[in-house]
Amino acid sequence: MSAGSFYYSLCFQSLFLFCITLILLVPFASFTATIITRNSVQNERDEVALTAFKSKIVYDPQGVLSSWNESRHFCEWEGIKCGRRHRRVTVVHLTSKGLSGSLSPYLGNLSFLRKLILYNNSIQGEIPREFGRLFRLKSLSLFNNSFIGEIPANLSHCSRLKILSIGHNKLVGKIPPEFVSLHKLKELGLHRNNLTGGIPHILGNLTSLEVISISYNAFGGNIPDSLGRLRKLWFLSLSANNLMGTVPPSLYNLSLLSTFSVSQNQLHGVLPSNLGLTLPNLQSFLISFNLFSGSIPISLSNASKVELVDMSVNYLSGKLSIDFGGMQHLVKVMVHTNNLGSGEIDEMKFINSLANCSNLGTLSIAANRIRGVLPNSIANLSTKLQYLELAENQLYGSISPVIGNLVSLNILDMFKNQFTGTIPIEIGKLQNLHVMSLGNNQLSGEIPVSLGNLSLLTKLNLQNNKLSGVIPSSLGNLKQLSLLNLSQNDLSGTIPEQIFNMPFLSISLNFAQNHLIGSIPSTIGSLKILSEFDVSDNNLSGKIPNEISLCSNLEYLYLEGNFFHGAIPQSLSPLRGIRQLDLSRNNLSGQIPKFLETLPLEKLNLSFNGFEGEVPMKGIFTNASAISIVGNDIKLCGGIAKLQLPKCLNNDPKKDKVSSLFKILIPTASVVLGLIMISSFIFCWLKKRGKEQVFESLLEKSLLKVSYEMLLKGTDGFSPTHFVGAGSIGSVYKGILDQNGAIIAVKVLNLQHQGASKSFMAECKALRNIRHRNIVKVITSCSSIDFQGNDFKAIVYEFMVNGSLENCSIGVKGTIGYAAPEYGLGNEISTNGDVYSFGILLLEIVTRKKPTDVMFKGDFNLHSFARMALLDRVMDIVDPMLINEEIVATNHRMRQALYDSREECLISMVRIGVACSVESPQDRMNISRVVHELQSVRKLLLQPTTGLNVQRRQ
Ligand SMILES: *[C@@H]1O[C@H](CO)[C@@H](O)[C@H](O)[C@H]1NC(C)=O
Ligand SMILES: *[C@@H]1O[C@H](CO)[C@@H](O)[C@H](O)[C@H]1NC(C)=O
Ligand SMILES: *[C@@H]1O[C@H](CO)[C@@H](O)[C@H](O)[C@H]1NC(C)=O
Ligand SMILES: *[C@@H]1O[C@H](CO)[C@@H](O)[C@H](O)[C@H]1NC(C)=O
Ligand SMILES: *[C@@H]1O[C@H](CO)[C@@H](O)[C@H](O)[C@H]1NC(C)=O
Repeated sequence: MSAGSFYYSLCFQSLFLFCITLILLVPFASFTATIITRNSVQNERDEVALTAFKSKIVYDPQGVLSSWNESRHFCEWEGIKCGRRHRRVTVVHLTSKGLSGSLSPYLGNLSFLRKLILYNNSIQGEIPREFGRLFRLKSLSLFNNSFIGEIPANLSHCSRLKILSIGHNKLVGKIPPEFVSLHKLKELGLHRNNLTGGIPHILGNLTSLEVISISYNAFGGNIPDSLGRLRKLWFLSLSANNLMGTVPPSLYNLSLLSTFSVSQNQLHGVLPSNLGLTLPNLQSFLISFNLFSGSIPISLSNASKVELVDMSVNYLSGKLSIDFGGMQHLVKVMVHTNNLGSGEIDEMKFINSLANCSNLGTLSIAANRIRGVLPNSIANLSTKLQYLELAENQLYGSISPVIGNLVSLNILDMFKNQFTGTIPIEIGKLQNLHVMSLGNNQLSGEIPVSLGNLSLLTKLNLQNNKLSGVIPSSLGNLKQLSLLNLSQNDLSGTIPEQIFNMPFLSISLNFAQNHLIGSIPSTIGSLKILSEFDVSDNNLSGKIPNEISLCSNLEYLYLEGNFFHGAIPQSLSPLRGIRQLDLSRNNLSGQIPKFLETLPLEKLNLSFNGFEGEVPMKGIFTNASAISIVGNDIKLCGGIAKLQLPKCLNNDPKKDKVSSLFKILIPTASVVLGLIMISSFIFCWLKKRGKEQVFESLLEKSLLKVSYEMLLKGTDGFSPTHFVGAGSIGSVYKGILDQNGAIIAVKVLNLQHQGASKSFMAECKALRNIRHRNIVKVITSCSSIDFQGNDFKAIVYEFMVNGSLENCSIGVKGTIGYAAPEYGLGNEISTNGDVYSFGILLLEIVTRKKPTDVMFKGDFNLHSFARMALLDRVMDIVDPMLINEEIVATNHRMRQALYDSREECLISMVRIGVACSVESPQDRMNISRVVHELQSVRKLLLQPTTGLNVQRRQ
C-alpha cells in the first residue's frame, strides 16, 4: 500500500467510525444540543453581568479584577463560584479589596446567585433595584461600603433571603413595609446608616429573625411591642436611634437573648425585677445613656453568662446589691453616673462578691452617691482589672496598701471623694498605670517617691488635698506625662529641676496654691509643647525667666500671687498662642511692654504690681473688661479712656495752654491734611496705574526686614555659585543672611516677565497667614529698587536642604501642594485661593499626611484621599496621635460624649478641609461658612467637664 492510500484508508475508517457514532447518538443528540445552547446563552449572560460589574468598579487597588479576563473561564475568576453542573455563578465574594465605584444593575441577571458578599469595600451609589430579580439569593452582604439612597423595596422578592447585611453605609429612608414577606430572614443588619421612619411593626412578623442590628440610625419613635414575638432572637441592638417611650415588657421574655442593647436613646421606665431569670442567656446588657430609673434588679445575680453590663448614665437609684459571685464571665461592670446609693454605710460590700470574676477588666461606679469605705477585698479583684473608677462618690477612709495588687490597672480614678490618710507607697507597684487621679480628697502626708516608678503615667492629678513636704524629684522620671496637677496642697520647698525635663507635658503643669519657694528654673524652656503653666499663689521669687519664650505653645500662663520682680521680659513676645496671662500680685515693675498689644490675649491681669508709664492702647488694651491694671503705682498713664488714667505727660509742657488754640486749628488742619492726602493718593495712583497695582505691604511687622543690598551681599552679588535654579518668572539663589546667619533661599522675580509681579503678590498672600512646620517658611520679602534703579522683588525663604525648594521652587511651587491650583494658571489671588490653602492645611493637620507625600500621584492627592475616606472611614485616615489619647473625665456622663464629640470634630474637620480644597474655586466652601462650621466644632470640644480635663478660669 502506498503512503497515499494508507492515509486515505485511515481517514476513511475514521470517517466511518464517526458516522456510526453519530447514528448511534442521534436520539440524544438533539436534546444535548439544546441544553448546551441554552446553558451557553445563560453562561454568556453571566459573563456579561460580571464584565458589567467589573466595568463599574473604577478603583481596584489590589488588582483582583485583573484576573477577570479571557484567559480563564469566568467560573475561575477570583471571588466567583459556579455550580458544578450548570456552570452558572452562585457566589460573588470580594471582601476587603478596597473596591470603589458602583454596582452594575446587570448583577440582577445572575439568576443562580445565592451569595453576594462585598463587605468592607468603598462601593458607592445605590443598591440596584434589579437585585429583586435574584430570587435564589440567600445572603446579601454589602456591609461597610458607601451605598446611598433607600433600601430597594424590591429586595422583598428575594423570598429565600436569610441574611441581609447592609450596615455601615449611608442609606436613608425607611425599612420597606414589603419586607413583611421575607419569612426566611434570620439576620437583619442595618446599623450605622441614616435610616428613619420608626422601627416598623412588621418586623414582628419575621419570626425567623435571630439577629436584629439596627443601631446608629435615626429611626425615632417607640420600640414596637411586636418584637416580643421573635422567639428565636438572640441578638437585639437598637442603640443610638432617638427611641422614646419604654421597653415593651415582652422583650424581657425573649429567653434566647444574649445581647440586649438599647443604649443611647431616650427610653425610660424601670427594669423588671425578674430580669435575670427571664433572660438566662444574657451576655451583654447595655442600656447606658437613657432615662431608666428605679433600682438594679437583684435577679441579675442569676444571669450567670453575663460578660458586659453597662447601665451607666441613667437615673438608677438604690443600693447596688447584686451578688456577682455567680457571674464568672464578667468583664465589664459600668454603672457610673446614676443616683445609686442608699445612705447605708456598707454599700461597697458588693466588691467582696467580685472576687470570683477573674476576667473583670472594668469596674466603674463613679458619679453616684455611694457611701462607705473601700474594703480590703479590692485586693482580690482580678489582676486583669484595668479600669477602676470610683470618682465622685462619698467614699471615705484610707486607701489600703493592698491596692498595689491590681498590677494591670491603667486608670485609677478616685477623684472627689473623702479619702483620708496617706497615699500608700504600694501605689508605685502599679506599673501599667496611665492615669491616676486622687484629686479633691483629703489625703495628707508626703507624695510618695515611688510614684516616680509609674513610667507610663500620662496624667497625674493630686490637686486639692492636704499633701505636704516637697515635690519628689522622682516625678521627673514620668517622661510620658502630659498633665501634672499638684495644685491646692501644702507643698513646700523648691520645684525640682527634673520636673522641667518632661518632654510630653502638653496639657498642664499646675502647682498653684502651695507654699513653693525659689525661682522658676531656666530649664522651663524644655516644655516646648506645654499649653498651661500655673504656679500662682506660691512664694516663688526671682525674675520671669527668659527661657519661657521657648514654651511656644503656651496658652495659659499664671504667675500671680508670688514675689516675682523685674520687668515683663521681652522674651514673652514670641508666645504667639497666649490667651490668658496673669502676673498680678507680684513685685514686677517697669513699663507695660507694647508687644503685649500684638499677642492674641483674651485676658490680661497686671494688677497689684509696680508698673509705670504709658498703658498701651491697641490689641487687648482696647477692651477694658479684659484687662486689669488696678493696684499699680499711680505712675500709670494713658490707655483707653475707659481706664480713666491720667493723660501721659509728654515732652510738650505748653500743650495744655495752647489747647484752646488747637480747638480751632485741629479741624482746619485735618481738612487741609485730608485734601493733601487725597490728592497725593490720586497722584500716586495715576502714576502707578498701567504699570502695576499699588503694592500692598504684605509683611507683618514682626517679619525681618531685608534690603536689596543685604540680599546682594548674602548671595555674593547673585553669583552663579549661589544659583539654585531658574524658571519662567524668576531665579532662586541660596544665601546667608548677615543679620542672623540664617541660610536662606531667595527667589528673585524676573519683573520683565508678565505676571511675575502678580505671582509675587499671590505667593506672599498665600503664605503670609500660614504658619506651619511643614510649610516652607517665608522669612520675609523684599520689594525695592536695585542699584540700576529698576524694580526689584524677591521672596526670602528658609532654605530647605534637599527640600522642595531645591527640587522644584519656581512659580508658586515653593508652596507646592498648598497654593490653589488656579494660582498655577496665573489667576488673580482671591479669598477662594486662601480657602484652598487653608483646606489643605487642615487636612494635613488631621491626617498628618503632607500634600507632597510620595503616595500622592496624578489626580490622587491629599484632597481626593480625604474625600474618599469621608464617605465612611474618616477615622482610618486620621493621625493616630489625635485619637489614641484616652479621654478622662471624672464626670462620666461626659466621657463617652467626649469620645463621640472628638470623633465628630475630626470628621467635621476633614469635611471642612475637603470642602475648602475642591479644585474649582467657585465650588469651595464659603469662608464665612468655614468659620461658622469651625465654631460648631469648637463648641463640640468645649463641653464642660470636671476632673482631669483642665478647667479654665472664667
Ligand atoms: C488575566 O488573568 C490571569 C489570571 O487569571 C493573569 O495571570 C493575567 O495577568 C491576566 N491578564 C491581564 C492582561 O491582566
Ligand atoms: C441584564 O441586565 C441589564 C440591566 O438590568 C439589561 O439591560 C440586560 O438586557 C439584561 N440581559 C442580558 C442578557 O444581559
Ligand atoms: C471597613 O472596611 C475597611 C476596609 O477594608 C476596614 O479597614 C475597616 O476596618 C472596616 N470597618 C469595619 C467597621 O468593619
Ligand atoms: C403580621 O402579624 C400580625 C400578627 O400576627 C398579623 O395580624 C398580620 O396580618 C401580619 N401581617 C402580614 C402582612 O402578614
Ligand atoms: C412572659 O412569659 C411569662 C411566662 O411564659 C408569661 O407569664 C408572661 O405573661 C410573659 N410576659 C410578657 C410581657 O409577655
